[in-house]
Amino acid sequence: MATQQPATRPANPRFSSGPCAKPPTFTLDKLADAALGRSHRAAVGKDKLKAAIEGTREVLGIPADYKIGIVPASDTGAVEMALWSLLGERKAEMLAWESFGSGWVTDVVKQLKIDAEVKTADYGQIVDLASVDKANDVVFTWNGTTAGVRVPNADWIADDREGLTICDATSAAFAMDLPWDKLDVTTFSWQKVLGGEAAHGMIILSPRAVERLESYTPAWPLPKIFRLTKGGKLIDGIFTGATINTPSMLAVEDYLFALDWAGSVGGLKGLIARADANAQAVFDFCDANDWIANLAEDDATRSNTSVCLKFTDDRIQDGAAFAKAVAKRLENENIALDIGAYRDAPAGLRIWCGGTVETADVEAMLPWLAWAFEAEIAAQA
Ligand SMILES: Cc1ncc(COP(=O)(O)O)c(C=O)c1O
Repeated sequence: MATQQPATRPANPRFSSGPCAKPPTFTLDKLADAALGRSHRAAVGKDKLKAAIEGTREVLGIPADYKIGIVPASDTGAVEMALWSLLGERKAEMLAWESFGSGWVTDVVKQLKIDAEVKTADYGQIVDLASVDKANDVVFTWNGTTAGVRVPNADWIADDREGLTICDATSAAFAMDLPWDKLDVTTFSWQKVLGGEAAHGMIILSPRAVERLESYTPAWPLPKIFRLTKGGKLIDGIFTGATINTPSMLAVEDYLFALDWAGSVGGLKGLIARADANAQAVFDFCDANDWIANLAEDDATRSNTSVCLKFTDDRIQDGAAFAKAVAKRLENENIALDIGAYRDAPAGLRIWCGGTVETADVEAMLPWLAWAFEAEIAAQA
């Protein structure tokens, strides 16, 4: 039993699920070129915003006819602007199996009050994706960050769908393959897989989404911060670097650095391989230890970014207090920071495994998890 402290420590104890670890080569001086104190509408600022858009397209392999915009209020802002701008034209299906998906349900059902069918599953499970009707709009989260459960693929999305697919991909983009032909609206924020700074959201629109925007006007008023069209036409500037309002050029510089780093590790393929290797180290640890298990019940839905774990040892008296105490021990030792389960999720741990985390650090952290578990079992007795 691992009562002795392991000899090796992770070089970087940052395993938070957002903001996530910066790329390993990050230092503050990498931001020295930021267009600070200049108008974001000056050529230097606009060029950087455009580079952020086109860099995103390149790394994520987004088709040339898809629009990519930098919008306010991080991923939440991007999702909200999509929901408020696009829904209501037809029935919507709202899929949720964790906290963030449930938040979008609340917005659509309680705020927008549109005709919606809500399909939910408990933490660890996923909804019946095959039951989605292609005539409806569907809103879903590609990777449920707080459950560690992701959609296994997009086979359930019809090529000849009539509705739109609106996908919150904030903890999936840059770590999982996103099939663009199946996604009409995709959103993410910079502070997740690439370890960027929180501030702005990205919204990616398929030609079908643009068509909906230009042909449908919601019955409710839209604040300026959500408006993607003017006079029935897409505001093209949003998708070429003329943002709706003032962006942080420091955050933009940081994102440009992160995109550059992504290229240096082999682009999307390299990023996915890094996340897969990190997550596999945790999966193997769970397989080797009968006191801990993945919260995701079906292996095909296990996240490779926000890996959520539950303790399964009969000796544990108070599950929530136990998990908190284990996380606290690891934080006190500066081994793993911010790995407690999300506040609405079942008691347990959540270990970020996105590509900015080094596999060697995951491997060095796991024996410490065993140590903290044993120490807490002993303390509880
Ligand atoms: C799936 C998902 N959606 C939305 C959000 C909210 O993102 P933001 O804080 O960037 O708005 C998060 C943040 O963790 C998330 O994981």
